[in-house]
Amino acid sequence: MKVKSLGYIGIESNKMDEWQSYCTNVLGLMEMEAPDNELRFRMDDLHWRIAVSRGDKEDLIYAGFDTRDSDRLNALVEQLATLGFKASEDAALATSRGVSCLYKVADPDGLQVELFYGATEIAEIPFISPAGVSGFLTGDQGLGHIVLYTGDIEEKRRFYMQGLGFKLSDTILMGGEVMLTFLHCNPRHHTVALVPAPVPKRMNHFMVQANTLDDVGHANDRAQRLGAPITVSLGCHTNDRMVSFYSRSPSDFEVEFGFGARVVDDKWSVGHHTGPSIWGHKAVTQDQ
Ligand SMILES: [Fe+2]
Repeated sequence: MKVKSLGYIGIESNKMDEWQSYCTNVLGLMEMEAPDNELRFRMDDLHWRIAVSRGDKEDLIYAGFDTRDSDRLNALVEQLATLGFKASEDAALATSRGVSCLYKVADPDGLQVELFYGATEIAEIPFISPAGVSGFLTGDQGLGHIVLYTGDIEEKRRFYMQGLGFKLSDTILMGGEVMLTFLHCNPRHHTVALVPAPVPKRMNHFMVQANTLDDVGHANDRAQRLGAPITVSLGCHTNDRMVSFYSRSPSDFEVEFGFGARVVDDKWSVGHHTGPSIWGHKAVTQDQ
């Protein structure tokens, strides 16, 4: 049994104004009404996909995975329990998130993972990007991907692969010593990737995928014009073939903005790479 897709993510930050500007003006997400001390952003027909709550962590604090229906949600809760991960239902939180049913469980690094079905759709109100992004690739592939640091890669793999049903897409050996793990639960090449590094932050970066290459170019221009630091230049990844660039979010982790990734299908074979990029993706010094 596996989750269907990454439905939403929640970030905690005290830089609410910066996040509001970054998400709307740089990423081109649509701001929606939100509870007090929270920002919510939309990227497709769903009510919201990315939330920022006021607080001190400057990090990812929860990730919501769509399980499609109640049968699959219950099976996943049982699957997690057999591995020693106890998920509990939270009806009040389901109401707050705008989903029909929700269970929450802590992953091995204490990240709150929320398993849900029945996310609120508002297709009757068209998604309009305030920055003119033509659209984001979501649907069966979910909101994008998250790349997580972990102090215990084996336990983290057990949770996401045996617990949530993710499959291995490939690995990348970075700098000859750090092995990154890329996991899929749908055609998106990776929805979750794992970095074995015991750093204080959970979040290395999250990625949103636009519908055209021009969207990436325009976002790159906006980041430079609006002063969002570009940390990694335009480039193409070896494993998912995403053409993308990275900028620094107000909470200091990075955000990848990409286009054109290849997908995982029935013919996919697990791969391995010795570097992250075919071309580009050069580290950018901050005075540029
Ligand atoms: Fe990425």
